[in-house]
Amino acid sequence: MISEIIKELDNIKAKFEADSREVDNEKDLENLRIKYMGRKGSVTEAFQFMGKLPNDQKPILGQKLNVLKKEIQDRLDYVKQELDNQTQADIDIDVTLPGQTYFVGKIHPIMQILEEIKDFFTGLGFTVEVGREAENDFYNFEALNIPPDHPSRDMQDTFYLPDDLLLRTHTSPVQIRTMEKQQPPIRMLAPGRCFRKDTPDATHSPMFHQVEGLVVDEHTSFAELKGILLAFARTMFGPETKIRFRPSFFPFTEPSAEVDIWWEDKNKGTGKWLEILGCGMVDPAVFEAINYDPEKYSGYAFGMGIERIAMLKYKISDIRTFYNNDIRFLNQF
Ligand code: PHE
Repeated sequence: MISEIIKELDNIKAKFEADSREVDNEKDLENLRIKYMGRKGSVTEAFQFMGKLPNDQKPILGQKLNVLKKEIQDRLDYVKQELDNQTQADIDIDVTLPGQTYFVGKIHPIMQILEEIKDFFTGLGFTVEVGREAENDFYNFEALNIPPDHPSRDMQDTFYLPDDLLLRTHTSPVQIRTMEKQQPPIRMLAPGRCFRKDTPDATHSPMFHQVEGLVVDEHTSFAELKGILLAFARTMFGPETKIRFRPSFFPFTEPSAEVDIWWEDKNKGTGKWLEILGCGMVDPAVFEAINYDPEKYSGYAFGMGIERIAMLKYKISDIRTFYNNDIRFLNQF
């Protein structure tokens, strides 16, 4: 007798488990509870088996019934908890909301142009040198053959620091530092920040970037310099690019030139020459300052403003936009 009752209890349990898997809302759950635990529910009714058993077997069945009742109640509680969590999740995740945008970092346009410049020149065997932003008079001026009364030394142009230091006004001091620490042949590139006391406007910034180039060897020529800069301009601005060398003056190069690029407005059918860099053959006075033999060695140098190149290439009209960190501007590159 008791074994049949226990079998029946197992049946109830199995049925309950199957039924509980079908529950997917509060109402189903309530029906399930009534079906098993309600006043006429299967578990409640199973307690009536007690009356059919001899006294010595009652405790055995009683214990089985209590275990079953507890198991079913636990399972009901668990399913209720699941349903509650589900409802909460439905509230938290609104799948109809627009997706979230993740902002991905970008390389600053100045650094992108610098990478392009570096790629070109390192491909020709140039090394990349790092100088100092705080320089002294010797490297920034004197060794570069810039005499004490030269206007670029003026308080108007140069930021002076304590201890006879100054913020370099160009990257040319890296020429001197590189020649000091190594012997020719030299092929170097030196990118970096420069500083001048300029009032900020669309084309001026007190901080800007330059790239310096220097080649020193036994046989160098202006023709070689022209060839390299033409190839550079065509790599940067396209294979049809035209440049011109306009005679100019720098204390540390002789002869000197400024290079202009022909900037054509195809829509208007007009164009104009725009300056992109300064260059020249290294002045023998510079070699003397660092004890290179000017009879044996010659060289050429060039220096360009990275902002200027970037402004031309990307058609940017105001240099200040590079430093404002406006995401809408930066994201375009
Ligand atoms: N240092 C010069 C400038 O800042 C550029 C330059 C570099 C010119 C090297 C000639 C040779 O204007």
